[in-house]
Amino acid sequence: MKGLVHETEGWIRSVRSQKEVLFLHVNDGSSLESLQVVADSSFDSRELAFGSSVEVQGQLVKSPSKKQNVELKAEKIEVVGSCDAKAFPFKYKERHPLEYLRQYPHLRCRTNVLGSVLRVRSEATAAIHSFFKPSSKIKVPEKNFFNIPVFLTVSGQLHLEVMSGAFTQVFTFGPTFRAENSQSRRHLAEFYMVEAEISFLESLQDLMQVMESLFKTTAMTVLSNCPKDVELCHKFLAPGQKDRLEHMLKNNFLIISYTEAVEILKQASQNFTFTPEWGADLHTEHEKYLVKHCGDIPVFVINYPLVLKPFYMRDNEDGPQHTVAAVDLLVPGVGELFGGSLREERYHLLEQRLARLGLTEAYQWYLDLRRFGSVPHGGFGMGFERYLQCILGIDNIKDVIPFPRFTHSCLL
Ligand code: 4AD
Ligand code: MG
Repeated sequence: MKGLVHETEGWIRSVRSQKEVLFLHVNDGSSLESLQVVADSSFDSRELAFGSSVEVQGQLVKSPSKKQNVELKAEKIEVVGSCDAKAFPFKYKERHPLEYLRQYPHLRCRTNVLGSVLRVRSEATAAIHSFFKPSSKIKVPEKNFFNIPVFLTVSGQLHLEVMSGAFTQVFTFGPTFRAENSQSRRHLAEFYMVEAEISFLESLQDLMQVMESLFKTTAMTVLSNCPKDVELCHKFLAPGQKDRLEHMLKNNFLIISYTEAVEILKQASQNFTFTPEWGADLHTEHEKYLVKHCGDIPVFVINYPLVLKPFYMRDNEDGPQHTVAAVDLLVPGVGELFGGSLREERYHLLEQRLARLGLTEAYQWYLDLRRFGSVPHGGFGMGFERYLQCILGIDNIKDVIPFPRFTHSCLL
């Protein structure tokens, strides 16, 4: 039977010889699935090695095997670039640990597992852009460098506030830099942050709704657009993660105040290295405990002490235990995923806080936003790599970004 004439290009993912025939799996990275190529004995099998790049022409026919619907009966195979299997760091059929793959940032994207993670990353990026589509025209402008010292941004928030003062609802999604001296599994020196800023926003409740919706909508889009990649990550990297993710998606996220959180932690203080105390930051161990305590459902912690938070967060004016309208979302496996707040839109209160910090002059432009047509507003930032860790169940942040840059390490 004659099939369809077909041409494919890609890298050989497996080679299996059987009697007079050679079976190759050729993958071009567009999905987890490889095309099975069947080559007869007229082809020189020595060149057709695992890792080589090839161009194959032949007939696309129905496959006799149940494993795939179609296969390509090769008529011509051209090795575009051969691959010395001995020197190639990945071996056919071996499942290399993620730590091992990390040593090869320039090659690891050719493995099934990193291929899947990065396709999920790409789908999630697109899903986030379409989540915010109505406001997608606005991006934070790039910095100029002509003879002027410039800095890497730690957040686009203040610039977004400028934009939300004209366009009402804005977002930005790009690289963000922090000189974190941390070897943790959830910190990078360069990470991607999704930030949104919304004008005419009256309450933390409204902000939390957007955060929860961004989390769930993105995950559901990814699940429906690349189910096989997600399944591979869950199966090989995080058994049980499919159920954990479903659990997060079908339940309403919980809300507790910082004060309640500290009470919960105090009841369990024997479990911690850092003693929980009102007025002190929550540590990763505390965050993880709170999420467990809440039944592995993401939990919003709101109304933090004013002393812990930056000057721009809105004062709750609530007496001796003085708090601000801040919100963090804590999620299973990761801890803090989002940080956000209502912003202080009242000129005199903001001015007092800036004056106490000696920043009034530097932030005159920021005060202007409150002098001229100020509106109640708020926003948040979500760490994109932590988001991928959370939905895929990946333990180390270095495995969800193509080129991880962190303390004293910038391999590529
Ligand atoms: O909580 P952060 O520092 O919040 C801000 O920067 C706000 N100005 C954002 C805003 O309101 N527009 O950072 C937000 C999130 C964190 O919750 C965390 O998920 C992630 O960014 N993040 C990091 N991710 C990886 N590596 C790091 N070093 C990170 N630092 C923060
Ligand atoms: Mg934070």
